[in-house]
Amino acid sequence: MSAYLVEGGVPLYGEARVHGAKNSVLPILAAAILCPGTSVIRNCPDLSDVRASMAILEHLGCGVRREGDTVEVDAGSLLHNDVPDELMREMRSSVIFLGAILARTGEAVLSMPGGCELGPRPIDLHLAAIRALGAEVREEGGGLRCSVPERGLRGCEIDLALPSVGATENAMLCACGAEGTTVINNAAREPEIADLQRFLRSIGARVRGAGSSVITVEGRQALHGGTHTVMPDRIVAATLLSAAAAAGGEVELLGTDHRHLSTVTAALMEAGCRVRSGEGRIHLRRDRPLKGVYPIHTAPYPGFPTDAQPPVMAALAGGEGTTVFVENMFESRYRHVDELCRMGARIRVEGRVAVVCGVGRLHGARLRAADLRGGAALVVAALGAEGRSEIEGLEHVDRGYHRLEDTLTALGARIRRV
Ligand code: UD1
Repeated sequence: MSAYLVEGGVPLYGEARVHGAKNSVLPILAAAILCPGTSVIRNCPDLSDVRASMAILEHLGCGVRREGDTVEVDAGSLLHNDVPDELMREMRSSVIFLGAILARTGEAVLSMPGGCELGPRPIDLHLAAIRALGAEVREEGGGLRCSVPERGLRGCEIDLALPSVGATENAMLCACGAEGTTVINNAAREPEIADLQRFLRSIGARVRGAGSSVITVEGRQALHGGTHTVMPDRIVAATLLSAAAAAGGEVELLGTDHRHLSTVTAALMEAGCRVRSGEGRIHLRRDRPLKGVYPIHTAPYPGFPTDAQPPVMAALAGGEGTTVFVENMFESRYRHVDELCRMGARIRVEGRVAVVCGVGRLHGARLRAADLRGGAALVVAALGAEGRSEIEGLEHVDRGYHRLEDTLTALGARIRRV
């Protein structure tokens, strides 16, 4: 079991390049099975969740090869249409394979994704969408057996009850295999969905509207292999900005899109950071203590991202002043709070609301990550804290950050994996 050792209180200086977006790569890898050709996916970060997706593709019968940050998926012929239980367990979001497997093979068998570290994460909207397209879904022995009747999947109008990211993506992928036009209403508008649309277009699919709340798919096009470069990871960028806000200093992020991060940079500016953004870069300087900011409500894009809530909270906990967070997306998204309190933070949680009273500076402690973004938050807090921290549970952090310690070390942080 590896851990991070962090000597806190060292300001960060320099440039860092942000890697490709995990939440973009995962649906794109699933989408690669829609075409009977080879997809070349560039800027593909080497994360444990990405490796889990590659293992699913191999199980399905695809040829999968990584060279540097490029992954090639040859989906010429598929041998299986199931996602085995152990791979489902390894990565909750493997449910994203459902729509694509169904569109390509007409049948899909998945075990039910159970609870997860963020609280119950239902898939009712995913299932409602693929049912609307004509698939039959049976829940059997803790698993799902989905099949397409003889008349095939039919394009239709799908009204999502919530703008769920995963359900929007599953509906898009499944609709690629449906005859005629599908319109997805109340679609999620996250930039990763627009990235998925770009990939789908590169393999010949006809999809439009991603980025808005109405997405249209003209299904059953002749699909072929394609090449795509994955968009930068806006949550990694938010984490690095939070780290610089916590530790102080001056950093420039490269290969990132500031337009995806406006709610996060606005909060950090209000807290006293100076932020300048340009094409493909964000510059942040923090040379005075952080102040509390106007309440932060997490919301679907373009609102404040729930995934950025833990790292931003970690930075503000070591600042001055009070900030109220309202977590509207997931139930158990405050699991980093107890750990931050071990570092001297003053945070009170009641239901969805967390009140963070800045204490000026946190102190180092022995900590344990309980989930991905909560783990990143502990790293942020440790970088800004007085003294040494030890952070266990790095398997969570490694799901979404490629060698975070290397990126931070290049900025002057004193962090190492032991
Ligand atoms: C995706 C992201 C995750 C991010 C989240 C919200 C990926 C791989 N993960 O997760 O990092 O935190 O978006 O931005 O892209 N819901 C239902 N029924 C469903 C589906 C969702 O009730 O069938 C609810 C969820 O419980 C949650 C809300 O909808 O409260 C949003 O979830 P959703 O947008 O689906 O998140 P994910 O796609 O799981």
